[in-house]
Amino acid sequence: MYRSSKYDQSMKIYKTIADLRGYRQSTGPEKIIFVPTMGALHEGHGSLVQMARKIADIHGIVVASIFVNPTQFGPHEDYHKYPRPLELDMDHLRRWGADAVFVPSLEEMYPDGSAISIDPGPLGAVLEGAFRPGHFRGVATVVTKLLNLVQPAVMILGQKDFQQQLILRRLVADLNMPVEIITAPTIREPDGLAMSSRNRYLSASQRACAGAIYQALCAARDHYRSGQRDAATLQSAMYTLISKAGMEVQYALACHAETLTAFNGLVSSPAVLLVAARLGTTRLLDNMLLE
Ligand code: PAF
Repeated sequence: MYRSSKYDQSMKIYKTIADLRGYRQSTGPEKIIFVPTMGALHEGHGSLVQMARKIADIHGIVVASIFVNPTQFGPHEDYHKYPRPLELDMDHLRRWGADAVFVPSLEEMYPDGSAISIDPGPLGAVLEGAFRPGHFRGVATVVTKLLNLVQPAVMILGQKDFQQQLILRRLVADLNMPVEIITAPTIREPDGLAMSSRNRYLSASQRACAGAIYQALCAARDHYRSGQRDAATLQSAMYTLISKAGMEVQYALACHAETLTAFNGLVSSPAVLLVAARLGTTRLLDNMLLE
């Protein structure tokens, strides 16, 4: 357990915008380090909150949010079944050192629906955006609302959602929001599976195969390290290993790490390997930077 003595007090819980704003005014000039989440927290989130705690200990306050945002789910996706273990999540946040958590209701966040939304631009149209139309519009819109409410100096996001963190970096830059974004490394299970709230949907037999995604990323990275630069070769190495493990590969690409354009021909720096695969009804995402 990690808590600073300076902020070792009971975590504040805010359910309304009015209460959060009141808290925000009372915190004065102290720097807010913000970790937005949809709950169903795991050690991956833990690493983000603990990183926030470390930054905040110099001068700041750690605020997390838990909100399962309906506008980023497609009509046939898992919005209704998305896990909401709220009490457990609160215990985790306390243990990891959050000072406050914003847990708004649907009505609080969208009292009149969502007539105005944020266009995530070309980065939002590819990869996850192509498989989940409207997803990044929902993410960009809710994160804009959360940033307006929390007014953090720093927001911490996980590298696991590589495309999301890239779009949100672009969002704060293009909209001139005074927020620094830190991308924290992916936290993995012992077999390499990237931690995700959706991993709990996997059956025991599915879970046993899921580590193949990480093995495929490592294999492609190792080819790259030994000099292989042909995108198709790296991609087919990933494709073969993931599909052999019984997953449906939706994409396994070597992309430019800033534009997300898939390399056609030779891979050059900065590059990232990006994978989405389906295991039964569960979609798993992972990525690895090629350095
Ligand atoms: O990554 C998530 O959990 C969500 O997309 C976020 C950033 C909290 C927005 O709802």
